[in-house]
Amino acid sequence: MGNIFIKNIKGLLQAGENLPDVVKGSDCNELRVVENAFLALENGSEVVAYGPMTEWEGIDDWRDLEVIDAEGCYVMPAFCDSHTHTVFAKTREEEFVDRIRGLSYEEIALKGGGILNSAQKLGSESETDLYNAAKKRIEKMIAHGTGAVEIKSGYGLSAENELKILRVVKQLKRNMPISIKSTFLGAHAFPIEYQKDHEGYISLLIDEMLPIIEEEELADYIDVFCERNYFSVDEMTRILEAGKKYGLIPKVHVNQFSTMGGVKASIDLDALSVDHLEELNEEDIKALKKGSTIATFLPGCSHFLGIPFGDARRLINENIPFALASDFNPGSSPCFNLLQIWSLACVKMKLTPKEAFNALTINGAAAMGLSKTHGKIKLGASSPIILTHEIPSFEYIPYSYGENTIQRVFTKK
Ligand code: NIG
Ligand code: FE
Repeated sequence: MGNIFIKNIKGLLQAGENLPDVVKGSDCNELRVVENAFLALENGSEVVAYGPMTEWEGIDDWRDLEVIDAEGCYVMPAFCDSHTHTVFAKTREEEFVDRIRGLSYEEIALKGGGILNSAQKLGSESETDLYNAAKKRIEKMIAHGTGAVEIKSGYGLSAENELKILRVVKQLKRNMPISIKSTFLGAHAFPIEYQKDHEGYISLLIDEMLPIIEEEELADYIDVFCERNYFSVDEMTRILEAGKKYGLIPKVHVNQFSTMGGVKASIDLDALSVDHLEELNEEDIKALKKGSTIATFLPGCSHFLGIPFGDARRLINENIPFALASDFNPGSSPCFNLLQIWSLACVKMKLTPKEAFNALTINGAAAMGLSKTHGKIKLGASSPIILTHEIPSFEYIPYSYGENTIQRVFTKK
C-alpha cells in the first residue's frame, strides 16, 4: 500500500536533483516548474520518478497503485515550520481582548499574563493531555501543508514541567507522520520565584535540566528569549554555551521588541537560526552577513501583536538567507496555518509569492536541519508533498488568503 502515481499535474514545483540547500539574494525569486508533469511515490511519500508527462515510461511491478489525476492542480514540497510552541495547555483569548482594549504584549506580561500565564496553566496538565492536544494541532497543521515542525518547550519553567513538555515532543516525534525537531526553551522567562534570583534559575537550567535532557535525548536545539525583562545577552550566552556542551545547537528568540546585541552573540555561537527580528540594526545585518545562520521572520506574531514586520527585502538585498515560520503559540501567534503566513508575508512584507514560498520550504528546512530531505522534491527523499485543489495559478495560493487550497498532503506512513 502507499504507492501513488500523480498524473497531468498542471505545475510540479521545486523538483530537481541539484536544487540548493539554502536560497538567498535574487535566487529567492527562482522556482523550478515542470508543466504537465507526473510524480510517482512509494510508501506514502518516497519519490521514485518525476518529469514531464511525455517522458513517463511506466512502472510494471507496482501493486495497490493509487492513480490521481491532478489536472489543474499543483504539486509542491510541503512547508517546514521551523519555529513553533505547539505543546501548550490552554489558549489565551483574554489577553487578546486586553490588547484590543489597548494593553501591549509587554504590559500584559508584566501583570502576570503572557508566558507565565501559560506556564501556570500547563503545570496542572498531564503528559497524556498535552500529547493528545498537540497531536490534534499537528494533524491540523498537516492538513494545511506543513510537512515538518520544530517544537519548543518553554511553558514549563520548572524542571518537572520543562521535561514533561520535551517528553511529549519525543512521543510526537515517534508517532507523527512528519519530521519533528525538539528545542529546549527553559529560558523563555524567569518564573515568579526566580524574578530576583536569575542565577538560581540559570543554574537550574544548566545544572539540573540539561544533564537529563542529554541523557534522555530530549532535544536537538537550545533556545533563549533574549529581550528586555527576559534574558540579557550575557545570560543567553552562558545558557547557549552550556547547551552546546550537551550537544544542543543554538536557535534563538532575538530582537522581537528591541536590539540588544543578541543577534551577533548568537551568530558567534554558530546559531542555526535567529528568529523574530522585527527590529534589526546595522550591527545585526553585519553579523548576519558574516555567518551562515538563517534569519527567521514570524509574520503571524507581527500581525497578531501589531508590531513591525521584519525587513525581509533588506536581507534579500544583502544576500542574507531567511526563513518564514508560524511561531504558533497561544500568546503572540495563535496561527499554525502556513498558508496564512505565506499570504501575510506577501501582503505585509512585500515578498513575491515565490520568495515567500522558498522561505517556507528550502530555507525553512535549512532552519531546522532538514535540508537533505525536505523543502524540495528529489529522488529517493521521503519528504512530504502537497497536492493543491484545482487553482488558476501558483500565485492564487497566497492571494486567496483564508482559503485552504490544499487537497492532500502525502507523508510517510
Ligand atoms: O515567540 N517571544 C517569546 N515567545 C513567544 C511568545 C510566547 C507567549 O506569549 O506565550 C514568541 O512570540
Ligand atoms: Fe516563538
